[in-house]
Amino acid sequence: MPQASHVSVSETPSGATAPQAPVLALEHVSLAFDGKQVLRDVSFALLPGHTKVVLGASGSGKSTILKLVLGLLRPDAGRIFVNGERTDTMGEHDLMRVRGDLGMVFQEGALFDSLSVAENVGYRLDTEMRLPASEVRERVDEVLGFVGLRDFLDRMPSELSGGQRRRVAIARAMATKPGILLYDEATTGLDPITAITVDREMVKLRDLEQVSSVIVTHQLRDAFYVATHEAVRDGAEVRVVPADAAKADEAEFIMLREGVIAFEGNAAELRAATDPYIRTFLS
Ligand SMILES: Nc1ncnc2c1ncn2[C@@H]1O[C@H](COP(=O)(O)OP(=O)(O)O)[C@@H](O)[C@H]1O
Ligand SMILES: [Mg+2]
Repeated sequence: MPQASHVSVSETPSGATAPQAPVLALEHVSLAFDGKQVLRDVSFALLPGHTKVVLGASGSGKSTILKLVLGLLRPDAGRIFVNGERTDTMGEHDLMRVRGDLGMVFQEGALFDSLSVAENVGYRLDTEMRLPASEVRERVDEVLGFVGLRDFLDRMPSELSGGQRRRVAIARAMATKPGILLYDEATTGLDPITAITVDREMVKLRDLEQVSSVIVTHQLRDAFYVATHEAVRDGAEVRVVPADAAKADEAEFIMLREGVIAFEGNAAELRAATDPYIRTFLS
């Protein structure tokens, strides 16, 4: 299996932003299940290193969007592009290759309960990429170190706290070095303090590993945190600090309402929105 390539944010000497091709795009995507329209004419694009936050009530079609991106579902109409390649018409063999650059944090973490932390994190490296055991161990060590859980290699998921489980799920998703991370409700069910420890991992992964992110959530607090913070290296330390306005603009929010995009804009625009549906969601 080819090694997934990292998509890098282009930098010009002047610091000006060159036009960038999206790493992910949905164009006029519609999908119905059993005659029930779940997504209707959904379009959005994700630029390299940016964050797309997908908000919406339960049943509004958020997880369905991620399944479409992964090629687990195909749209009835519209087109989907991953790293510039059209995927909605792709065969399974090519889809496997495209999925090599996609990392998924499943709804509420979803670790394999019968596998240790190290086995969970190394799962795709072992079964899909077929890396030698020594390389799997090295990478598992590295990504668990990234999320601050290197001492938890031999634990079982049942021995972890809720926040630790989510961080292991993030380590598992990043283990194959994907350029795009898809998070489905990564903080749902966590208390606010613990949720922030998970939010910080999403920020670090985006800013230190140049990962592009799609964050599906109905936890607005966490979405705002990720959108308005950035990770910086400070010597050997990593600090997560409030982002400047330009950085915060790299996080775009979309809100789904019954399968239609009812809002699109940055964090400040979302906070200022007056639409009654959005206000209900914000309050
Ligand atoms: N495989 C499926 N078959 C039939 N209906 C589905 C399927 N997957 C999702 N749905 C329906 O599609 C709608 C959107 O689901 P989903 O994308 O999971 O919503 P969300 O993640 O926003 O809660 C829901 O009404 C759900 O019941
Ligand atoms: Mg869902």
